[in-house]
Amino acid sequence: MTLCRNCSTELNDFMTFGKMPIANAFLEKNQIKSEYFFELAPTFCPKCSLFQLKFQPDPNSLFHENYAFFANTSEKMQRHFEDLTKSVIEQFKLKKTDLIVEIGNNDGGMVKYFNDLGYSNHLGVDPSKNVCDFAKSLGVRVKNEFFNHETARDIKRDYGDVKVLFAANTLAHIADITSVFEGIDFLLSKDGLFITEDPYLLDLLKKTSYDQIYDEHVFIFSLTSIIKLCEKFDLEVFDVEKLKTAGGSLRYYIARRGQKIISPRVQMVLSEERSIDLFSEETFLRFKYNCEQSKNDLLTLLQAKSKNHKIASYGATSKTTTIFNYCGIDSSLIEFITDTTPNKQNKLSPGMHIPIYDYEYFLNNIPEYCFLGAWNHIDEILEKEKNMFSLSGQWLSHTPKPQVLDF
Ligand code: TYD
Repeated sequence: MTLCRNCSTELNDFMTFGKMPIANAFLEKNQIKSEYFFELAPTFCPKCSLFQLKFQPDPNSLFHENYAFFANTSEKMQRHFEDLTKSVIEQFKLKKTDLIVEIGNNDGGMVKYFNDLGYSNHLGVDPSKNVCDFAKSLGVRVKNEFFNHETARDIKRDYGDVKVLFAANTLAHIADITSVFEGIDFLLSKDGLFITEDPYLLDLLKKTSYDQIYDEHVFIFSLTSIIKLCEKFDLEVFDVEKLKTAGGSLRYYIARRGQKIISPRVQMVLSEERSIDLFSEETFLRFKYNCEQSKNDLLTLLQAKSKNHKIASYGATSKTTTIFNYCGIDSSLIEFITDTTPNKQNKLSPGMHIPIYDYEYFLNNIPEYCFLGAWNHIDEILEKEKNMFSLSGQWLSHTPKPQVLDF
């Protein structure tokens, strides 16, 4: 029996993706024999609607001194976070002395932009040493730790109360979510703000983007589940914003209870979630059926195209680890993957061992079809590649359904 990480209710099992490697564990040939696998099984809580993994590998094996993911590989995401920094400063009239903390700031995150704008009273907290070192080299003040209640105590002791806490694509990664919320509740000043964004469960269900499910994403949140998490503390969601990033995300604005006027957008999003029914098994059994259908259709498409054409994947993402392993896609279907991240290059993709090469290799070996592994960056990629491919007939995607993209 597995219990909900928020409310300890028995979780509802509805499917498994089978054995999966660690999504960001790109490997060398000599590491194949010792490759680690675990069962990737999503579940949902019938009481608080929190969508979560049944098992998560030890976080120390996911976030470490050699973490492969660097956020700065996407120009568009950089602008996204820079814009958020500027809008929060303006909208909430932040003072240069206000303490700003980011949970999971990776290689600089939002605190980098605050620092650039003269907000030197900031702190980025991240468990992976290599990304912390990179952020430090940009002048960002960092704390190389997992964020939890204990870390929050240290932060309060050393820096005081926090005016704005940020987390982007981070909360979904932390299994001990109660400790995270305890830490936030402990740190936030009376007029403080907690702004967080993560992939949104409704988008995942609507787009059958099951590839958002992998070891690091121990949760896929909805507004309903975030409200239930806040309820245990002196915290409430006062606004939400739908985002296109990460394949469809929701940004939550959280404050101390009663401190802010609740935006009508909160009720609007809640009504939409109610209409889908995030507490019912039927909703998730439908998603399971859609995943199986998507797998069959993607395999049929790749098998047909690979008979006479070379196919490559654009982006060695965590998401492609789920797609390739769940569907059984190896180098007989996708010949190679191209990725701009240096520490993924000249390695093999987790589980299916498709070779990963740099952009120059891609330019010298242009495939006839390109699978959009980094589909969440579609606009940026198509803009970059508009001279390389005509904009139709050559890009393949698995979402919202497996297809050759028609622009
Ligand atoms: P991301 O979508 O953040 O993926 P995930 O969270 O699923 O790992 O990662 C994007 C990956 O795609 C990253 O490894 C860099 C790569 N990439 C390119 O190779 N070229 C590009 O133009 C873009 C935008 C990304």
